[in-house]
Amino acid sequence: MSKLIAPSVLAADFANLQRDIEMINNSDADWIHIDVMDGVFVPNISFGIPVIKAIQKHAKKTMDVHLMIVNPDQYISTFKNIGANNLTVHFEACTHLHRTIQAIQKEGMKAGVALNPHTPISVLEDVIMDIDLICLMSVNPGFGGQNFIENTYKKIIQLKHMIEQSGSSALIEIDGGVTDQNAHKLISAGADILVAGSFVFKSQNPSETIQNLRLLANS
Ligand code: DX5
Ligand code: ZN
Repeated sequence: MSKLIAPSVLAADFANLQRDIEMINNSDADWIHIDVMDGVFVPNISFGIPVIKAIQKHAKKTMDVHLMIVNPDQYISTFKNIGANNLTVHFEACTHLHRTIQAIQKEGMKAGVALNPHTPISVLEDVIMDIDLICLMSVNPGFGGQNFIENTYKKIIQLKHMIEQSGSSALIEIDGGVTDQNAHKLISAGADILVAGSFVFKSQNPSETIQNLRLLANS
């Protein structure tokens, strides 16, 4: 399977959101990564339901929604209704993670689980067979534009091993501080999807930057 690039709209120009979504539509991007922050689970508030509805109107790529919120169970059907294809919840925010995963899949979405940088891979042992996607946070969630945490490589290798040993078909997504400097190394370690926010949207030519990342990921 080719490796996927998911630009994060957190770094887009919100006053020109339609333009930036169309840029993603017309680029080599595979997914659109959408970060929802509630100011409780993470110390920042991004955007919510009305904005995602507006994105849905224009988005032509897989909507990969990353919930950095407490009580995600409360909103699962809402996110389905506004176009989420993948719904990722944080391990650290779910008391009944197995139930949450089932509820997401019951709605017909792919279920993802995100792990904060300090959370070990081992916590996934008993749900690895049930998950479609694991999002390894390579920065502390809450903000775009932070520096990549090097310990992530070790976690990718451990997770890849767990996936292979168990026979799970879960994909590994890396989120935070992804650039052209680490893209190839992340894929070599075992990543399947690279999320990139600032590196794409702060570049001179975002569409070309996406194309370059995709080439690096698949080289
Ligand atoms: C961080 C978000 C990321 C963020 C990545 O909490 O989950 O998706 O948009 O941004 P960059 O690529 O700028 O680190
Ligand atoms: Zn994210």
